[in-house]
Amino acid sequence: MKGVRLGIFGALIVALFAAPVAIIFVLMQSFFSICENAKNTELVPALYIFGDSTVDAGNNNNLSTTARADSLPYGIDFNYTATGRFTNGMTVADYYARSLGLPFAPPYMNLSEFERRTTTTGLNFASAASGILPETGFLTGSPLTLENQTDLFRMTAKTLDVQNIKMHLAKSIFFISTGSNDYIMNYRNIASKMNKLFSPDYFAKSLTEELVKRLKKLYLIGARKFVVTGLGPVGCIPAISKSTPHEGDCAESINQALLSYNKELFMNLSKLQSQLHGSFFVHTDTFKFLQEPKKNKEKYGITDTQNACWEGKHDPCPERDRYIYFDSAHPSQITNSIFATRCFNESSICTPMNIMRLVSAGADQ
Ligand SMILES: *[C@@H]1O[C@H](CO)[C@@H](O)[C@H](O)[C@H]1NC(C)=O
Ligand SMILES: *[C@@H]1O[C@H](CO)[C@@H](O)[C@H](O)[C@H]1NC(C)=O
Ligand SMILES: *[C@@H]1O[C@H](CO)[C@@H](O)[C@H](O)[C@H]1NC(C)=O
Ligand SMILES: *[C@@H]1O[C@H](CO)[C@@H](O)[C@H](O)[C@H]1NC(C)=O
Ligand SMILES: *[C@@H]1O[C@H](CO)[C@@H](O)[C@H](O)[C@H]1NC(C)=O
Ligand SMILES: *[C@@H]1O[C@H](CO)[C@@H](O)[C@H](O)[C@H]1NC(C)=O
Repeated sequence: MKGVRLGIFGALIVALFAAPVAIIFVLMQSFFSICENAKNTELVPALYIFGDSTVDAGNNNNLSTTARADSLPYGIDFNYTATGRFTNGMTVADYYARSLGLPFAPPYMNLSEFERRTTTTGLNFASAASGILPETGFLTGSPLTLENQTDLFRMTAKTLDVQNIKMHLAKSIFFISTGSNDYIMNYRNIASKMNKLFSPDYFAKSLTEELVKRLKKLYLIGARKFVVTGLGPVGCIPAISKSTPHEGDCAESINQALLSYNKELFMNLSKLQSQLHGSFFVHTDTFKFLQEPKKNKEKYGITDTQNACWEGKHDPCPERDRYIYFDSAHPSQITNSIFATRCFNESSICTPMNIMRLVSAGADQ
């Protein structure tokens, strides 16, 4: 866009010296129509983001919590800037924004009241260490719970500076990426203490129930198009696989437990879509996605599927695009990039429709 503007201004200057006013007028018109076209490359009005560290873009920098990514090497591939993103570069949410023709959604907690009203291309409410259950993450301080996030969104929606808020919300995409921390911080605790009382199925059902409440709340505020992530193989993240006794590469007992949540979530999302008029729910199969590089290392150039590129001390590995995990709990930028591309365009990871189809869904309503 910058390039285009300069080009047109360059032409204008030439025109000022050489051509009659009429030509300037024509050039001005083409300048404005180019701007108009640039606007039309946005596929949806806005992208609203909720969840945990997988998509936090800096909210925790402005909160009282120890869960922060505010120093390098976080952001080492984000122009060497530690924004609060828990990866070396862009998150899945950043890739979605880019593919949708939108700017990265800024972290809500870092905005002034004025910016909160006037940022109409999307906001990020995600907060690292939070989970679906309100108590998840409290050991780290006060991250925004999922309920905090939807409450803040409700207040924002009331004052947002758009002409038709109903249409704005109905066409926008709501991306919710959460649940891992409920297993990492809560479930593992509960399972170790009283797993006789707490079956994996029971835990999965209570998570799903709570998440469904939050999704219904967003629907009541006006959201219609949802992308909700299923959980990846949490038992395989280095932080857990290297600290939990197990056989093989991963702590399979945790993977088995969360597969029960994934299944429950999938069923409930399709149920919600039929219950809530005009709604669309995309479910992402993160688990399946993360199994593939293990089977097919050559395809994506990812050669290390088990270790963290950066274990918290020393320098990060130099070839960051060869690792699934950047730190001991979070995917690297390359993993996020491949995931986002596949969810955007393909049909095996994001179902029952990919994001490209979600964009045009409901256009006839
Ligand atoms: C890094 O900076 C370049 C040049 O300013 C910009 O085009 C690019 O979008 C930036 N990358 C990120 C991830 O912000
Ligand atoms: C927070 O806002 C300040 C001031 O606008 C900006 O310089 C900074 O980059 C923002 N931080 C994040 C993480 O977005
Ligand atoms: C958020 O924190 C950053 C520094 O961490 C500070 O510069 C900024 O002013 C804070 N923003 C708000 C809205 O509190
Ligand atoms: C989050 O929710 C808790 C409990 O309702 C509340 O005490 C806290 O003030 C909320 N935080 C924010 C930032 O809204
Ligand atoms: C989720 O789906 C299951 C199976 O269809 C059902 O028993 C349960 O009530 C649903 N939960 C919610 C919160 O809708
Ligand atoms: C999706 O596919 C279209 C057409 O093949 C392509 O132009 C676009 O870049 C793809 N988008 C992503 C995010 O891969």
